[in-house]
Amino acid sequence: MSQGNLACRVCGGRLAEFFDFGRQPLSDAFLTPDDIDEEFFYQLTVGACESCTMVQLTEEVPRDRMFHEDYPYHSSGSATMRQHFEQLAKHLIDTELSGRDPFIVEIGCNDGVMLRQISKAGIRHLGVDPSGGVTRLAMADGVRVLTDFFEESLAEAVLADEGPADVIYAANTICHIPYLDSVFRGVDLLLKPDGVFIFEDPSFGDIIERNSFDQIYDEHFYFFTLRSVQAMAERMGFELVDAERLPVHGGEIRYTLARKGRRRPSARVAELTAAERVLDLAAPATLERFAAAVRNIRQDLTRLLEDLRAEGKRVVGYGATAKSATVTNYCGIGPGLIPYVCDTTPAKHGKLMPGSHIPVLPAEALAEPFPDYALLFAWNHAEEIMAKEQAFREAGGRWILYTPKVHIL
Ligand code: SAH
Ligand code: TYD
Ligand code: ZN
Repeated sequence: MSQGNLACRVCGGRLAEFFDFGRQPLSDAFLTPDDIDEEFFYQLTVGACESCTMVQLTEEVPRDRMFHEDYPYHSSGSATMRQHFEQLAKHLIDTELSGRDPFIVEIGCNDGVMLRQISKAGIRHLGVDPSGGVTRLAMADGVRVLTDFFEESLAEAVLADEGPADVIYAANTICHIPYLDSVFRGVDLLLKPDGVFIFEDPSFGDIIERNSFDQIYDEHFYFFTLRSVQAMAERMGFELVDAERLPVHGGEIRYTLARKGRRRPSARVAELTAAERVLDLAAPATLERFAAAVRNIRQDLTRLLEDLRAEGKRVVGYGATAKSATVTNYCGIGPGLIPYVCDTTPAKHGKLMPGSHIPVLPAEALAEPFPDYALLFAWNHAEEIMAKEQAFREAGGRWILYTPKVHIL
């Protein structure tokens, strides 16, 4: 398992590995049967820096293998997330973007789920995202986008063309980028002296509390805590001036950074940091407990699915999430246990799930006919999905969930 002296991607400190998922396929690489022979695998191992505490993967997948023309994740696919970003856009418009001719840059704008609100309000903006399929959708919605990776050189070009930004914002993207030194140098170039860099990502504290090991996959390179973000901000000349817990995607934190000394940190930073300290997230004992819980989930889930099959019950999957790649491939769940997975994303229909090669069908396939059980891979959208699929429950169907432990609803 150990690859020797692995170094932290942020500070160069020693990385202590705490979980090894083995060889894994790319989580969003949905396949056609022709692609199977050339499927790409990498080693999915996660460690924590003994110096700055940053939790991170030990192997970096080349970025253009993950983010390209056919990147299938569409942010607007969830009503909850559309609402979440609408609220955020309103808040920014009322606060940071209320001055004269404000300008906002979004890193990882995807299909424009957030920026379309900014565009509608007539505010100067620019999205940066390398995935051409989704950025075209954003453009069709009136959003200005550069289809490219954000990094220092790109920030320099944007500054030359557009001038400095009041806000640089990113959701579920900063944790995807291993080369954060370059990102921070870019932010430093592009941001006005008193501007803010705001980003929100899954919180490692919530992953530990919920045993949501399926947040660990190729695209999620970092798992942030307040402590590790504070340490990183400091290295880069910034400071954490606000933090807020968010309920979406199984628990996230929105971090607001400003240049050091420019803004007074809010009381929330100290409060949340104190609450996080109690969890002792960087302690080897905490990480070992998590590892044991994950191994138990694998055992319980495979046993449950095998028992149900032996009883002649039908089980299908719901939500062809990136997260599900870690679950199916780590637990060894294939089409023999789950004949198909239902999902609303057109780009995933008719394709095979990475590694497990379980077919993906439209959401309507759930009712053809209703199975006895549905394994909910999109557990972060449980409320929205269960409300929509009430007929499944009424027909006697039950949901299987696997976090924080395997249970049936
Ligand atoms: N912000 C959206 C999208 C998250 S998915 C949301 O929260 O739903 C992550 C997005 O980041 C993808 O669209 C991907 O193409 C983009 N991305 C990955 N690396 C990037 C980089 N270096 N710069 C800008 N965008 C990047
Ligand atoms: P999500 O959990 O947001 O992200 P990730 O891929 O990063 O793990 O993905 C949700 C998936 O679930 C996406 O493929 C769309 C699908 N989905 C449905 O099929 N029905 C729904 O009602 C919702 C909200 C999502
Ligand atoms: Zn470190």
